[in-house]
Amino acid sequence: MSAATQTTGKPVLVADDVTMIFGGLTALNQVSLTLHEGQILGLIGPNGAGKTTFFNCLTGLYTPTKGTVRLSGKTLPNDPAKVTVAGMARTFQNIRLFPSMSALENVMVGRHARMKQGPIASLFHGPSFKAGEKAARDRSRELLRFVGLSNVDDELARNLPYGDQRRLEIARALATDPAVLLLDEPTAGMNPQETEATRQLILSIRDQGIAVVVIEHDIKFIFSLCDHVSVLVQGELLVEGAPEVVRADPRVIEAYLGKPPEEVHADVLAYVEEVGHTEQTAVMKPVTDQREGGQA
Ligand SMILES: Nc1ncnc2c1ncn2[C@@H]1O[C@H](COP(=O)(O)OP(=O)(O)OP(=O)(O)O)[C@@H](O)[C@H]1O
Ligand SMILES: [Mg+2]
Repeated sequence: MSAATQTTGKPVLVADDVTMIFGGLTALNQVSLTLHEGQILGLIGPNGAGKTTFFNCLTGLYTPTKGTVRLSGKTLPNDPAKVTVAGMARTFQNIRLFPSMSALENVMVGRHARMKQGPIASLFHGPSFKAGEKAARDRSRELLRFVGLSNVDDELARNLPYGDQRRLEIARALATDPAVLLLDEPTAGMNPQETEATRQLILSIRDQGIAVVVIEHDIKFIFSLCDHVSVLVQGELLVEGAPEVVRADPRVIEAYLGKPPEEVHADVLAYVEEVGHTEQTAVMKPVTDQREGGQA
């Protein structure tokens, strides 16, 4: 059932002992994680566990109180723009598109992070600028098709249905040519068909050689997609390993249900095993989608 069909390669993203303290709150406590080439890693945990904070530390939005993050062997700067150029892209729990720009323009913004147009070429819109713009536009169109968005190139981002906005964010992230893609709740608000399409999309992204870390509350989705799962609880890495191992770990069930497994009715445990924690998913879902850290 898991996606562990791909042979994983050498480490591409290594986070070492990442700690993030906000005032008196330790949101992350010495969290380490290694993502290998060809891997889809699931990051799960109850609300407030520190999942988004961890993404914010990985991408330079937050400067961790302690710890280091390395991408392809190089320590990353605490600067989101430089992290993008270094090869790591992300999407946000609370969608952050440019609402008054078209879908195509949103993707082109991601593409521009990769373009090497000098200031002189841009100023005079010379031939090299025009050729670069055309290439960016063509590639952005291609990416819109790749994520499953057709006939929306000229639609304003704000007018797209929610699920399409999430896909558009993925296209924009892919436009930066990342080696690593971080997805924060990519299926939030999606119906089952859209969720399955997103699962297939993430597998295709992995097949294109991009390693993926995905945060999601939908445990069934995670266990059927990922070849490694890490569980964060109250800022600490509780369990990690193959989906089968994590899924069967009583500590994970306890963390999700909030009580020891022996106190949980056998039927519920069987249900959790069989259908992938759907009931817990309901419990864990944020009441609103306004909990993401790092808002401007
Ligand atoms: N900028 C910030 N300032 C202060 N506290 C913060 C900040 N960002 C996050 N936190 C706190 O850190 C903890 C972890 O939050 P985080 O958003 O990372 O959790 P999460 O696992 O992503 O939860 P959810 O599943 O609800 O999205 C929470 O207690 C949150 O209130
Ligand atoms: Mg979050």
